[in-house]
Amino acid sequence: MRTVPLGNTGEHVSALCLGTMYLGTRQDEDTSFRLLDQYVQAGGTFLDTANIYAHWIPEGRGGESEALVGRWMKARGNRDKLFIASKVGFGYQDVPVGLTPDLIEAECDKSLQRLGVDTIDLFYAHVDDRNTPIRETLAAFDRLVKAGKVRFIGASNYLAWRLERAHAASKADGLVEFCCLQQRHTYLRPKHGASFGAQRAVNDDMLDYARSRGGEFTMLAYSVLLGGAYTRADRPLPDQYAGPDSDARLAALRTVAEEVRATPNQVVLAWMMQNDPPVLPLIAASTPQQLDENLDALAVQLSAEQVRRLNAAGA
Ligand SMILES: NC(=O)c1ccc[n+]([C@@H]2O[C@H](COP(=O)([O-])OP(=O)(O)OC[C@H]3O[C@@H](n4cnc5c(N)ncnc54)[C@H](OP(=O)(O)O)[C@@H]3O)[C@@H](O)[C@H]2O)c1
Repeated sequence: MRTVPLGNTGEHVSALCLGTMYLGTRQDEDTSFRLLDQYVQAGGTFLDTANIYAHWIPEGRGGESEALVGRWMKARGNRDKLFIASKVGFGYQDVPVGLTPDLIEAECDKSLQRLGVDTIDLFYAHVDDRNTPIRETLAAFDRLVKAGKVRFIGASNYLAWRLERAHAASKADGLVEFCCLQQRHTYLRPKHGASFGAQRAVNDDMLDYARSRGGEFTMLAYSVLLGGAYTRADRPLPDQYAGPDSDARLAALRTVAEEVRATPNQVVLAWMMQNDPPVLPLIAASTPQQLDENLDALAVQLSAEQVRRLNAAGA
């Protein structure tokens, strides 16, 4: 699989990251192992999990996804070939939401144990914490890096001005800095005032921020396929995306998909990877067919004119 640079880390990661949120809960062990094998057979090495996955589903407690990935890596003996991302910051079980130093360090140890690894390649702040000074949060991440428990850090669900503040604090105090941002993002734009709770969707401000930092900072996106809503009759479009421009954008998506003989899902993924700034999509799937379709987006090449047309639709 193609690789792309990860911010200013000097590392290259797979152009499509596999989200493992429901592996070990909604997806049973066999299905989860098959999906992970399929991604790796396609050349993928970049896996995304979090301490809380997936505590919100019936019988979920959190930690199931990390533990599943850990069992799979042990069974396959392939930890050294993978780039593992996990996250801390949202609450689950008796762990409160937040990014206090004690919480970050304790949760990192739990994640390492569940994954069965010595080091997490990329450790995200999963949600901003306005009650903890950003310097204290970054100093805790810095200690984890110095201890060899974490290699790089990222942010998720942050606003642009808070990221810039974190960037300035890292520079001023000589601390590790966020190399990337993982945000909710898809081709359809959320309508004005749409809320996703603590999740933050990419907006023009954020895209401008990422563009201004050039290659030193990477944008990643989650919930890119809106749970399958672009193509599935059983998956209505989330109301937050039913804005005044959504019909025009869906029409443009369908037209371009026909032109390049790809599915709308594949065009959403290709558009994201080939846009300015390029955004690295997380893909997720519950069946091998879905995963194949999503992986095949790597072969979809859009012309500059098609990307421009998709960007302009519904403007
Ligand atoms: N940082 C954060 O706050 C945050 C938040 C959410 C997610 N994430 C990460 O992002 C990853 C992806 O998130 P997501 O699950 O919300 O992504 P998504 O792409 O919006 O949804 C994935 C689901 O869409 C359906 N699907 C996928 N490909 C399909 C295809 N080709 N055709 C038809 N249906 C398809 C499947 O639903 P069914 O399972 O129903 O078949 C699949 O489970 C997660 O695993 C997690 O790692 C991060």
